[in-house]
Amino acid sequence: MKKILFVCLGNICRSPLAEGIFLKIIRDRNLEHKYGADSCGTAAYHIGEKPDYRAIKTAKQHGINLNHSARQIQSIDLDHFELIIVMDRANLNNTLRIATPTNKHKIKLLRDFEPSSFGDAEVPDPYYGGISGFEEVFTIAYRCCENLINQLENKSN
Ligand code: 4NP
Repeated sequence: MKKILFVCLGNICRSPLAEGIFLKIIRDRNLEHKYGADSCGTAAYHIGEKPDYRAIKTAKQHGINLNHSARQIQSIDLDHFELIIVMDRANLNNTLRIATPTNKHKIKLLRDFEPSSFGDAEVPDPYYGGISGFEEVFTIAYRCCENLINQLENKSN
C-alpha cells in the first residue's frame, strides 16, 4: 500500500480537499487496495477541527464528503509515507526543516504534478478569500491528483 500525505498550513482547507479528491479518484478507479492518503498541517492552530465549512461545501458539490480532523505534521510522518505532497513553498520549507537526509526526497509540491506547465508552482491559500478560491483549489488539486495517480500507475504496472 502506497500512502500519500498531503500537507498545508492549517490542515482545514487545501490538504483535506486534496486528500478527499485523491481518495475519490482512487475509489472510482478501484485502486483502494493499492493507495491510501492522509493530510496534516505544518501549524498547530486548528488541531482537532473539522475542515473549513467552505472546503466541506465545495467538496460536497463535487460528490466528495470530507471526513478528517486536523492534525499537525510530525517528523515520523516523513518515514511512514511514501510521498509527502505540500501546497506551497512555505509548506515546503517548513516540512524540509523536520526532514532528514534519508526522507527529504519524498517531499514534493502538488503542482509538480501539473500535466503541463501552468506557470504557478503553488496552490493558493484560500483561507482569507471567498468560496471561489476553494473552487479554484479544487480544480487545481483535482487536475494534479489525476496526473499523480496516472504517474504512480504507469510506474507500478
Ligand atoms: P490551509 O488554509 O493551510 O489550506 O488549511 C489555512 C487555514 C488556516 C489558516 C491559514 C491557512 N490560519 O491562519 O488559521
